[in-house]
Amino acid sequence: MIDYELGDKVAVITGGASGIGRACAHAMARSGADVSIWDLDQDAIDDTLKELARYGHRTHGVVVDVADSAAVDQAMADVVATLGRVDIAVCNAGIGGEASPSGDYSDEGWHQVIGINLDGVFFTQRAAIRAMRESGGGSIVNMASILGQVGFPTASAYTAAKHGVVGMTQVAAWEHAADGIRVNSVGPAFIRTPLLTKHLDEATLDALAAQHALGRIGAPEEVAELVTWLASDAASFATGTYYPIDGGFLAK
Ligand SMILES: NC(=O)c1ccc[n+]([C@@H]2O[C@H](COP(=O)([O-])OP(=O)(O)OC[C@H]3O[C@@H](n4cnc5c(N)ncnc54)[C@H](O)[C@@H]3O)[C@@H](O)[C@H]2O)c1
Repeated sequence: MIDYELGDKVAVITGGASGIGRACAHAMARSGADVSIWDLDQDAIDDTLKELARYGHRTHGVVVDVADSAAVDQAMADVVATLGRVDIAVCNAGIGGEASPSGDYSDEGWHQVIGINLDGVFFTQRAAIRAMRESGGGSIVNMASILGQVGFPTASAYTAAKHGVVGMTQVAAWEHAADGIRVNSVGPAFIRTPLLTKHLDEATLDALAAQHALGRIGAPEEVAELVTWLASDAASFATGTYYPIDGGFLAK
């Protein structure tokens, strides 16, 4: 594990109380950042903040539904008031959502996935851009997926949202480079988090593992390494790009 020297930075991580977001919170706090985690459940936030205390930096947690733009704007204002600035935003909160063929997909399922996985990333990115403009720049990392590049049966809304995340990342990178803001997206393949393990048995996870060249699904910490590099000044020439991290899934 590399120390990315985030000592002077404040990081916001949505969906920071579980899975990939929680691994990012650990990686960034370990590298010296003050970390604000946003999630839906106060108990899960409190548990994560207790874990982060070991690194000795300031932490902050807030219950926020990223699909609610007013709540997102309020949460960003809370972070600035509490931690002073925002240098890094990991727009990561997301759900798997309904799994149905396109012809059977419900209105409700479609709007739920798009509301969190696409609108939620846009609202958080927008609030982060506004905060970062005030403080002279920053780095935004949007959580896409391999399904930001290819399709997957039964995942039409998820795939549409993740393709949208890749596109909005490219646009924002061009628009806000002059503000000192870099914007990138990350595309994990299948990662062992509650998003998968709550819904899939081990036999299904084994079948998914076989679709990766490495013969396994990933760990959230492996995604956090890439996210933390993109967030850091070590990635100073990286903007507007989609970075798969997929154990070889897309290479076939
Ligand atoms: N696990 C995978 O295989 C995988 C692969 C590619 C991309 N991703 C993406 O990674 C991101 C994180 O997923 P994960 O696998 O860590 O899942 P996870 O379920 O472990 O964590 C997601 C977190 O987001 C929070 N969240 C959900 N809806 C929210 C909302 N409306 N507002 C605020 N917080 C909300 C959840 O409470 C949870 O804590 C998601 O965007 C997901 O699409 C996951």
